[in-house]
Amino acid sequence: MLQTPDYKRAATLPGVLNEVVNRWSPRSFADKPVENDKLERCFEAARWAASCKNEQPWRFLLGRKGDDTYARIFETLVEFNQNWCKLAPVLVLTVGQDFFSSNHQPNEPFYTYDVGQAAANFALQAYHEGLQLHQMGGFSAAKARELFAIPEGYHPLTTWALGYVAEPEQLPEGYYREQELLARKRKPLSEFVFNGEWGKPLTF
Ligand SMILES: Cc1cc2nc3c(=O)[nH]c(=O)nc-3n(C[C@H](O)[C@H](O)[C@H](O)COP(=O)(O)O)c2cc1C
Repeated sequence: MLQTPDYKRAATLPGVLNEVVNRWSPRSFADKPVENDKLERCFEAARWAASCKNEQPWRFLLGRKGDDTYARIFETLVEFNQNWCKLAPVLVLTVGQDFFSSNHQPNEPFYTYDVGQAAANFALQAYHEGLQLHQMGGFSAAKARELFAIPEGYHPLTTWALGYVAEPEQLPEGYYREQELLARKRKPLSEFVFNGEWGKPLTF
């Protein structure tokens, strides 16, 4: 697999987890299947995420290139994502259960928060396995519901592309390739970690 290029490594403090520094969302994937043991460990990492009342509201549908699940997930994607996702060996649809199994009361807004936590665990484990994950909101949840007969109370939330990273040059010139070569950026902590009053940055 390709190492994370320097410009995709997070410019952060020493001591931040290697997986956090090196995880990024590529669009250029190698034409190489993902081993089953790696997939299983990624889902194990997702499985051990925290969740409200330990409800574990996450559900996943995984397709490998060539199978029917892959074709159906691909069909739900917007064209912008289909253009590059055709390179990905694995596609995943994430789904959240919106009610507590114990009492059937709404698990709002925590079920989406919890699926996000499982996704973050998965993404870090994926990097640890030599893979990268690219999460997407650009898909039709209605189409996913229809194609997979997803029952009431369960909501398609995101789609993912997973695989080994390949050279940016296999992407079409223009936006996709430019993005693949751009540095990853984040807001400074002072814009979102507060103390004392809303908007007042915490002093570390
Ligand atoms: C919920 C969510 C939806 C996203 N939707 C898309 C998408 O539809 N298409 C796409 O190419 N990238 C999508 N992304 C990827 C983000 O653009 C990417 O994570 C962000 O720019 C930060 O880059 P990094 O993951 O490389 O650090 C999405 C990410 C998340 C978490």
